[in-house]
Amino acid sequence: MCGIVGYAGRGCAAQELYSGLKKLEYRGYDSAGISTVCNGSLYTVKRSGRVEGLQSSLGCLAGSAGIGHTRWATHGEANDSNAHPHVCGRFALVHNGIIENYAELREELRAAGHTFLSQTDSEVIVRLIDSCYGGDILGAMRLACARLKGCWALAVLCAAFNGFAVARRGSPVIVGVGRDGCYAASDIYALAGRAHSYCVLGEGDMALVTAGGIQVFNGEGEEIFPPFERVTERFAEVGTDDCPHYMLKEIRENARTMRATCKKFLSSVDVCALSARLSSADKIVLVGCGTAYNAALAGARILGWACDCPVSACIAGEARYDPPSFTKNSVCIAVSQSGETADTLRAAEIARGAGACVIAVTNVGYSAVTRIAHTVLPVCAGAEVCVAATKSYIGQLVCLHLMAAGARIKERAECILKLADEVEKLASDGEYASTIAKLCARSRAVFFLGRGCDVEVAVEGSLKLKEVSYIFSDGYPAGELKHGTLALVDETVLSVVLVCDEGLADKCLNAVEQILSRRGRVAVITTLPRVAERLKGRVQAVWLLPPAPFHVACFLSATALQLIAYRTAVLLGRDPDKPRNLAKSVTVE
Ligand code: G6P
Repeated sequence: MCGIVGYAGRGCAAQELYSGLKKLEYRGYDSAGISTVCNGSLYTVKRSGRVEGLQSSLGCLAGSAGIGHTRWATHGEANDSNAHPHVCGRFALVHNGIIENYAELREELRAAGHTFLSQTDSEVIVRLIDSCYGGDILGAMRLACARLKGCWALAVLCAAFNGFAVARRGSPVIVGVGRDGCYAASDIYALAGRAHSYCVLGEGDMALVTAGGIQVFNGEGEEIFPPFERVTERFAEVGTDDCPHYMLKEIRENARTMRATCKKFLSSVDVCALSARLSSADKIVLVGCGTAYNAALAGARILGWACDCPVSACIAGEARYDPPSFTKNSVCIAVSQSGETADTLRAAEIARGAGACVIAVTNVGYSAVTRIAHTVLPVCAGAEVCVAATKSYIGQLVCLHLMAAGARIKERAECILKLADEVEKLASDGEYASTIAKLCARSRAVFFLGRGCDVEVAVEGSLKLKEVSYIFSDGYPAGELKHGTLALVDETVLSVVLVCDEGLADKCLNAVEQILSRRGRVAVITTLPRVAERLKGRVQAVWLLPPAPFHVACFLSATALQLIAYRTAVLLGRDPDKPRNLAKSVTVE
């Protein structure tokens, strides 16, 4: 989702903002722009395309205060005029979020004489602020925000002020103080290396930021003094190390994530209290979006085995409008890498509002979901930059497995730690992943199939492939194939079949035979040597993974599928780190 930055200090604003925007690009890369203020004038550069496209124009941006934006288009296509900042009169504005009543406001402003220069919902905000302005920037922002429906993180520049203002409702804003000035950004990683302390603005709060400091105000306009935390090393700038892409680097961090998440869980979670909460629940509902939803699906299966009550997974965007009937004995587990996904937050709020206990499984300790949750289970994946989630999914699986282990938690943790060594070796594989990737790259469509615990991994493997390669793909139970999808199978279609459960292996092999008899192509990924032996030479590829108990084989098979998606994207010349049309942290509905 869009990223916003602001800077006011002693340095060159354009350079500071540019470097902040580069770090926020995972939030959207349809267009980018920067406005600065200098001696009472505003300077703006914006254009469609990536942040890098601004570099040659930074010299046109005078001043030591400004705001910047990297966009994931919602309203209006990705062109120069829809790029932020939007300018009106003495104001420039950048926005992350969605204004739901923008059409009415636009008509009202048009009637009052405004001419709109973009198709965005955001432009109404800067025009409202300009029309409300009587010398008090925050006052004008407060009046304007009172007219808005939706969600927003705003940074606003005024020609009459050598600094900037920020406001938030629904979308995140972090403010930070550094040696050379003060900052604001959509996430803390954009401030790393620059700010030494930071504060996450509360819902409805606003702040005035100048080179001299940051003043924070609540929704009523009263100054408040929230605590600032130290920016620690864990937020340090992350590179791709020796890897050509973040995606590969992050897959190679799966093992480290497994170890760190296990360690943190064992040292920080009150396992007895958690088990008691789960065993007294009348129902457990896991919610999430995208990859986090796929982790929730896997979690629902293993928690379902462990708990006596009904356990289900729900797509958060659906749960918010048709919520399960939560009671005060229910448990809602909100799974989210970023902890900022709008649909997941809303679903968690609804559960909490109904009296349910909310447990967050998240990679970002200061995120919004941690403020909704009663209990936070930390995923320790570190910064995940690639838009497609990989190591965070693995970390989410660790948390969910440990949660489901109950009294056998030590045993389960040992098993996961042992597997981490195998995952580490697997993640450096080039051969098998490349062979299957070549098959994928030549296919019109790829189906990912499995039975039992392999189903959820297949579903996630399919999402990964479509996200980064743009090949049509679907993932579901192998037994379902014959009930419709088999009609699509021919020699242009590849089926990647996971076989990691001995108890269901022969059933899975039935599906393989059905595909082969229709001249479909098959790649098999298995932890079972007898399956590999039987299929060698009969199918296009067989990848034999190290042995693992079927319920934890997901750590190996998911890593294998992530590698296949990555290699396919690279073969097809796609940018796996920034797939088209997508963004990492989706803070709008
Ligand atoms: C976006 C991303 C996905 C991610 C999903 C949920 O759609 O592109 O990779 O899985 O959001 O994100 P979350 O931060 O809640 O896990």
